[in-house]
This record gives sequence, C-alpha cells and structure tokens, in this order.
Amino acid sequence: MILDLLRRRCSVRRFLDRPVPDEVIAEILEAGRLSPSGGNEQPWKFGVIAERALIAEIAAAACGQQWLAAAPLLVVLCATIVADERGARDIQRDRFPAWSGAVAGMDCALYARLNLEEHQTKIPGTHMALAALERGVGSTWVSRFDVDRVAALLGLPEDCIPSEILAFGYPVEPPAPRPKKPLAELVFHNRFAPR
Ligand SMILES: Cc1cc2nc3c(=O)[nH]c(=O)nc-3n(C[C@H](O)[C@H](O)[C@H](O)COP(=O)(O)O)c2cc1C
Repeated sequence: MILDLLRRRCSVRRFLDRPVPDEVIAEILEAGRLSPSGGNEQPWKFGVIAERALIAEIAAAACGQQWLAAAPLLVVLCATIVADERGARDIQRDRFPAWSGAVAGMDCALYARLNLEEHQTKIPGTHMALAALERGVGSTWVSRFDVDRVAALLGLPEDCIPSEILAFGYPVEPPAPRPKKPLAELVFHNRFAPR
C-alpha cells in the first residue's frame, strides 16, 4: 500500500557500508522510467554512480555535505533541455499571460538553468525513493551542490544539467519520520478566500 510506504519514508543520511544490489538498482531505475512528464517528453537522464572515488568527488562539490561521501549509491537526476523556445518561453507565456512582455524578452538559457531546481526530475526521483524504500533502501534528496562542477565530473553534454542528486543506502538507524503539517493546515476546498 503506497500510503504505508509514504508514512515510513524519511530522509536517511547515515548509511551502512553495504552496496545496493543490482536488482534493487534496476527496480529504482524502472520506477523512474515510468514517470509522467509534460508531453511525455521524458526530459531526463539518470546517472547511476557507485564508484567510491567519484562519489567522494561529488560529495566535495555538495557545499560541505560530507555525509554524502558515505552513500554507496547516488543517482544524479539530470534535466535535458528540450528546446529553449518551447520549454522556457512559450509555455511560460501561456502560464503567465499578465507577464507575456517580460517573458518574451527573457534570457531563455539563463531561465532554463535557474528553473531546473523546480524541474520535472522531481517526479522520477520521488518514484525512485519509494521503490528503494520498498526494498529497505533509504534515500535523501540533495539539491545543494555546485551544478557545473558535478556536470564536469560526470562529463555531461551542455544540454544535460544535474538538477538533483538522490543518495541511496541501507540506513544505520531505524527510520524516524519527521512531523508533517496536518491536512487542516494544507487543504482548501473550492475557493481559498471568498470572492
Ligand atoms: C528538492 C529537495 C532538495 C533537498 N536538498 C537537500 C540537501 O541538499 N541536503 C540535505 O541534507 N537534504 C536535502 N533535502 C532533504 C530535506 O531536508 C528533507 O526532505 C526535509 O527536511 C524533510 O525531511 P524528511 O525527508 O525526512 O521528511 C532535500 C529535499 C528535497 C525535497
């Protein structure tokens, strides 16, 4: 039951020195592959990193997050820029008609890079984290890292940009889910405020 998994999920930053088996990695990747995306463009690549030395180099690029170096597996979620004109300009012009003038004049390349933090790769990453948890493998999202440095370490082409890293491994401690806001604080029905 998906809700049981979601209730158990929590970020794991201390990992046992135990590799994630290939069959579990295959399930994690398959869960990512099945994700929805706008226009089914699937604008992503999944970098599977299990080489210790490379993990250490990525950790060194993660703004002081040394705990990452002990993860036995990283999946680097990379966003591929489909087409600046469509992705960064036309769609946003439709979404924000009141700003259409500013959107028409914006720097698409810069927008595409800065916008990646909110990019669609969150969806395959979420699938992957749950597929891993089902097999007892914990994970943590990492978006605080030097994007250009990680891209260089992985030899990525110009149009393929690391947007998040998922660190995977068997947890040292039993999971301790953090408190989440109650639905009463999150949900509104129909209108937020009366018109
Ligand atoms: C998009 C995203 C980026 C995150 N980046 C980092 C990060 O760079 N380093 C880190 O230690 N945790 C990171 N986290 C984990 C959050 O701190 C964590 O999800 C949050 O504190 C809630 O805890 P929980 O995951 O246990 O529910 C990130 C989480 C998300 C969703």
